Amino acid sequence: MNGKHWQPLISIDQLEPNDATPVRLNNTLLAVFDTIDGYFVSDARCTHAGANLCDGYFDGKNIECPLHQGLFDARTGRALAAPVTRHLKMIECRVIDNQLQVFM
Ligand code: FES
Repeated sequence: MNGKHWQPLISIDQLEPNDATPVRLNNTLLAVFDTIDGYFVSDARCTHAGANLCDGYFDGKNIECPLHQGLFDARTGRALAAPVTRHLKMIECRVIDNQLQVFM
């Protein structure tokens, strides 16, 4: 199929509650964040040197990179603390019938 479309990612029951869950879709590793404001999905790779952010410390709002402790807002992707300067790529998501879907 050409172009972006909604596709199933993972069942809500399979997510780590209040944490970050890594999910692979095709060849892309995504991070699903169960935040205080609901679910958010981003590219799982840190924009600094590519570490898997799901291995980092998550407090329900911000995710700290496990490699050099760069900080992102998991709800907006905003880069908050050095050494990260580039924002995280966020992926639009929605929940339908207990299933998290992404638009990509
Ligand atoms: S790889 Fe994430 S801060 Fe360096």
